[in-house]
Amino acid sequence: MSAKNIKLLLVQKDNELLGPLEAQLKEISGVDLCAKAFNYEELAAAYKKINPDLILLDLSFDEDNIYSFLSSLESQVASGHLALIALAGSSDMNRIRKAMKSGCADFLMLPVKTEEISNAIKSAYDKNQSILKSSTVTPLSQRVPAGKIITIFSTKGGVGKSTIAVNLAVTLAMFLKDSGRRVALLDGNFQFGDIGFMLNLKPERTIHGLVREMGEPAPLTFELLKSFITTHPSGLDVMLAPSKPQFAEEVTMLHLGYVMECLKKNYDYVVVDTIHHINDTDLTIFDWTSMLFVIATLEVTTIKNLVLTLEILKDLQIPKDKISLILNRAYQKMGVECSTVEEKLMKISCMIPSDGERVVASLNSGNPFVIDLKADIPIVKSFHELAEFVVTDEDRSYFSKMEEVVQPKGNVLDFFKNLIKK
Ligand SMILES: Nc1ncnc2c1ncn2[C@@H]1O[C@H](COP(=O)(O)OP(=O)(O)O)[C@@H](O)[C@H]1O
Ligand SMILES: [Mg+2]
Repeated sequence: MSAKNIKLLLVQKDNELLGPLEAQLKEISGVDLCAKAFNYEELAAAYKKINPDLILLDLSFDEDNIYSFLSSLESQVASGHLALIALAGSSDMNRIRKAMKSGCADFLMLPVKTEEISNAIKSAYDKNQSILKSSTVTPLSQRVPAGKIITIFSTKGGVGKSTIAVNLAVTLAMFLKDSGRRVALLDGNFQFGDIGFMLNLKPERTIHGLVREMGEPAPLTFELLKSFITTHPSGLDVMLAPSKPQFAEEVTMLHLGYVMECLKKNYDYVVVDTIHHINDTDLTIFDWTSMLFVIATLEVTTIKNLVLTLEILKDLQIPKDKISLILNRAYQKMGVECSTVEEKLMKISCMIPSDGERVVASLNSGNPFVIDLKADIPIVKSFHELAEFVVTDEDRSYFSKMEEVVQPKGNVLDFFKNLIKK
């Protein structure tokens, strides 16, 4: 702890609940409650005036404005200049999830003991002090990872989510291997995850082990996260699913939120495989997602599901520009035209051809088919295009050196659209 008092700003709505807290804060040495804000305008003004070290945030506060305000403070929080602690009288999981996503270092359920709030404030402040200290010795040239979370989703099983997640992640890892970029794959199917089998990796280090090590949900260091990662020979870092279905429930969405936060901070690209229904796990993953790929095949039932999926994603207020459509097994004549899908639903961003022989052989051997760099194979080429689609403009240059070996020339999307039209 430093000699200087910690400047607090209390953002509150529920006076009855937070009244006793104010008295408790006055008892804590080394802490100054500099201001209270009861609405968004007061908050913005008080923040500017006192430049607090820490904001105590009542989660029942004006929800419409608070999260956009907190997102404007993201860099202050990330750089260690400001800490956030969330407070609530009930465990409203949706609000807690959002608060964590906004960078809250801790969450306290009211009423709280004076000692508990004192410890929470001091440890959040001390953590920030060490971030500030270390940042002064970090060379300025050290780049911040792109932190793109790419989620592969569909409300239907068996459409190829895991196949796509694995092969996209391995493609990214292979192309970016010498670039210093970091690529990770998270198996978001905590009960029956397939990623370990598909990549021939033993589930010795899993998210379940990490959660057991964490104990209570709390921000994670990269060192701790890394010790539960398994690295694939392609250079891909994999966070495997629990080794037994019964362990899945120990991975709470609060734990997962901190895992997502740590992955985003430390990796350039994180591909996330999911299951085919929307539960708390998916909602937490969606909160962190930068690009959401919805997978469909040209079957009537899948198309029906796709319509429903897009409606659900709209209800969840996931911005349209984050959502892209991948058409898998595009080589089969299924009676549904891709032009119909595009006219009625949305643009298809990528088509992955059907190649049962190659896909099944790769599944059985635990070797993703994209490791075959002779990219005159259409399904391999489609993954090169998908990977190019997801990377930043800067990283796209790493793909150009591979272009010479890639055939057929031209775009696989057009190639297959033409093929299907015939
Ligand atoms: N493009 C493809 N061509 C041929 N078979 C595929 C293709 N994509 C997926 N498959 C097969 O479809 C099945 C389901 O794939 P999977 O990735 O496990 O789907 P999901 O994760 O959506 O349940 C697997 O047997 C897989 O080999
Ligand atoms: Mg799957």
